[in-house]
Amino acid sequence: MIQIAVLGYGTVGSGVVEVLNTNKDTIAKKAGEEIQVKYVLDLRDFPGDPIQEKVVHDFEIIVNDPTIRVVAEVMGGVEPAYTFTKRALLAGKSVCTSNKELVARHGAELLKIAKENHVNYLFEASCGGGIPIIRPLNSSLTGDQIDEITGILNGTTNYILTKMIQEGSEFDEALKEAQEKGYAERNPEADVEGHDACRKIAILSSLAFGKQVNFEDVYTEGITKISASDIKYAKAMDDSIKLLASSKRVGDDVYAMVSPVLVGKEDPLFSVNGVFNAIFVHGNMLGDAMFYGSGAGKLPTASAVVGDIVDEAKSGSRNVMASWSEEKLDLSDIKTSRKKFFVRVYGELEKELEKIEAIFGPVEPIVLEELAGEFGFVTEEMTEAEFEEKERKYGTLISRIRIRNL
Ligand code: HSE
Repeated sequence: MIQIAVLGYGTVGSGVVEVLNTNKDTIAKKAGEEIQVKYVLDLRDFPGDPIQEKVVHDFEIIVNDPTIRVVAEVMGGVEPAYTFTKRALLAGKSVCTSNKELVARHGAELLKIAKENHVNYLFEASCGGGIPIIRPLNSSLTGDQIDEITGILNGTTNYILTKMIQEGSEFDEALKEAQEKGYAERNPEADVEGHDACRKIAILSSLAFGKQVNFEDVYTEGITKISASDIKYAKAMDDSIKLLASSKRVGDDVYAMVSPVLVGKEDPLFSVNGVFNAIFVHGNMLGDAMFYGSGAGKLPTASAVVGDIVDEAKSGSRNVMASWSEEKLDLSDIKTSRKKFFVRVYGELEKELEKIEAIFGPVEPIVLEELAGEFGFVTEEMTEAEFEEKERKYGTLISRIRIRNL
């Protein structure tokens, strides 16, 4: 029997206990032995809950108990999760986590400590919820050089954008609905400003490229400025708008960014709607692959944590995770990255087109009858720096959205 401790009895923690109870027998078969929750660490008590007798308030009980082989850290946040994880690894216990903030900030160090102590630090649940993506990058796609990872990595923003596209609603309205349905937090900043997706792409990129990608270095733009009118243009062009988190090798450069992007019907990410997540991967031998599924929520995330616990049980404490170096990967300035842009400007097409083409070069104009006093256009491919320069020359734009180049 494998005895485990669950740190944090919130949404994911209670999900881990539920998954282990619901699928007890099949999990035991796959793990080779029964997995039993011995402790649940939380500041609170849960009278009436069957786990109450397992609740402890002191981490020392867990770290000093030699019968605990695996710790599921599902508390979130950097502290005390960082200290607890480090101490558990140093005490010879493997740690499985859903904590993207911690993995993004201290992943390289914690992987190194795990390796030195012949245990594992596993974090499948940190990116894409229940979608297997860490394990494929770690152990399946190892024959490849990964050239690109582009994902819809945040369920909340994908739900909001999908609502805006399907119902024509404004951002605030769609956000309110997401909050009422429990998809968005009361303080939705981390999701809607792109910080959550930024941490996830930093983790995936570190793993894929083998060096620490600091999330602070990833250019990040959220979806708060996307309006119902932007969506009208997207629909007129048969496109969709998605919050994409992407890292890509282009020659000797590696670019990483999070931003709303227009994606066309031919793009595999086009049809990823609602709270679903998807991660598109391009390998130099593999070509394209896409991983799709439930990217957030109690049970999908808990399922990924339990999958890691089972992996740890099967590995017999052999270190199975590829680590990435603590050396920082120098990302290239996105100002040198090339793409087309969709732009909205005030005025009438006939009057403005000459000036626009003199500055931006040849454009494809789009006029929507329902939006008087403005029009849109798509530029040719150019660098971000060139676009900024042209924007300065032109003057005030209503909005601009990047276009994904496949
Ligand atoms: N807030 C996150 C999301 C939860 O909406 O995707 C999963 O990490």
